Amino acid sequence: MKNICVVGVGYVGLVTGTCFADLGNRVCCLDINAERIEGLKRGILPIYEPGLAEMVKRNVQAGRLSFTTSYEEAINGLPADFVFIAVGTPEGVDGEADLRYVRMAAESIADVADHPLIIVNKSTVPVGTGDWVADIIRAHQKKPIPFSVVSNPEFLREGSAIQDFLNPDRVVLGSLDREAAAKVADLHLPLRTTIMITDLRTAEMIKYASNAFLAAKISFINEIAAICEALGADVKEVAAGVGYDKRIGRTFLDAGIGWGGSCFPKDVKALAYMATVHGRHPQLLQAVMDINTDQRRLVVQKVRDCLGTLEGKTVGLLGLAFKPNTDDMRDAPSIDIAHMLQAEGALVKAYDPVAMVSAARVLHDVVLAEDPYELAEGCDAIIVVTEWNEFKQLDMARLKRAMRQPVIVDGRNIYEPETMKAYGFTYRGIGRGYNGCG
Ligand code: UDX
Repeated sequence: MKNICVVGVGYVGLVTGTCFADLGNRVCCLDINAERIEGLKRGILPIYEPGLAEMVKRNVQAGRLSFTTSYEEAINGLPADFVFIAVGTPEGVDGEADLRYVRMAAESIADVADHPLIIVNKSTVPVGTGDWVADIIRAHQKKPIPFSVVSNPEFLREGSAIQDFLNPDRVVLGSLDREAAAKVADLHLPLRTTIMITDLRTAEMIKYASNAFLAAKISFINEIAAICEALGADVKEVAAGVGYDKRIGRTFLDAGIGWGGSCFPKDVKALAYMATVHGRHPQLLQAVMDINTDQRRLVVQKVRDCLGTLEGKTVGLLGLAFKPNTDDMRDAPSIDIAHMLQAEGALVKAYDPVAMVSAARVLHDVVLAEDPYELAEGCDAIIVVTEWNEFKQLDMARLKRAMRQPVIVDGRNIYEPETMKAYGFTYRGIGRGYNGCG
């Protein structure tokens, strides 16, 4: 059993802290947001993540997990052997990562720490940040207490974050201090996975390269989808056929509206920014981003093509979160799509099983519906934006009866073109060839 302090109770911090507690460690999660910490003390989570609330409750009751806003308590109270920094790194003005929260965390840790520490950085940070964190801590220490910095990039997906933490494909640890990295590796031994130890900068780069590759895979299949539409092929079957090749694999080959969320958009942009600043020309990354932006326009264009004009039309968005099983609206395609529809004079209605509250904060003048059938009422078209499971088996006859015009633009290819046509819908998928009507 080790004592761990986790700074930041967002997705990464809360999942990491709770899972480490579940593995038998004593964990104190810290956040400067008192409201979030008060909520957590009462069992109210600041995020929606399947299974996390139960896990938090179990570990709090077992006395292994606690929450505080005090650095003094979180670091010296236990006392902590490890401090994980898991604060947000939002996008800066030029696409660079904004490191102000990492800086604040490093300064606060240095201010209070009264014993040797291993500081583990889990926030996604520009290559070189690990060295910078070490400099900040050194500069802020009142007396020279030994410490080491280890980079431990996270690869959690929202919606399956606990599973991903407990069954990772690998754990990456970067440090100039191999002994410290080995101690962090020990924390992960119960996960029985490959642990890779590198230098700091390489570990930081592995995170960016992983996300950029996955985003590129999606943009690749979206470009293939556009060509499929032109040539009459079905991208779903193309992805399946291509994916059987073990060198390629089937995952992240779902064509559709493209990627959003808290990581891919920010990280691809930040990697391109780092490349440019260092005199490189990241043309592939640029294309990956351009294709992704186009996918959001594409669904609006498909609705326009079906209806002639968007002026005075009512369009329903089925799903709002950037992907299923989360209420996260960060860089959700639904936001851009709603704006584009509204800019052309359409009334936008929307429904999401989980993200209605978070969506209401960022969407304006959108009529929120209670369920998919209420959403369909009076709609001239529906766009499937998020592939929630509950949308896959809707009563299509009922949905069609409620609509003013039976037009469905399936931005996630969850329906079959032939079936939808049999129900009498004008159906448009993404890259579904002539059958999907382009
Ligand atoms: C991602 C990475 O997967 C994870 O390793 C990293 O730590 C954080 O970023 P996440 O943002 O939670 O995780 O979602 P993910 O499941 O990777 O999906 C990202 C986006 O790509 C979503 O908008 C999703 O809808 C889209 N996507 C995914 C596709 O459009 N097609 C696919 O085939 C897969």
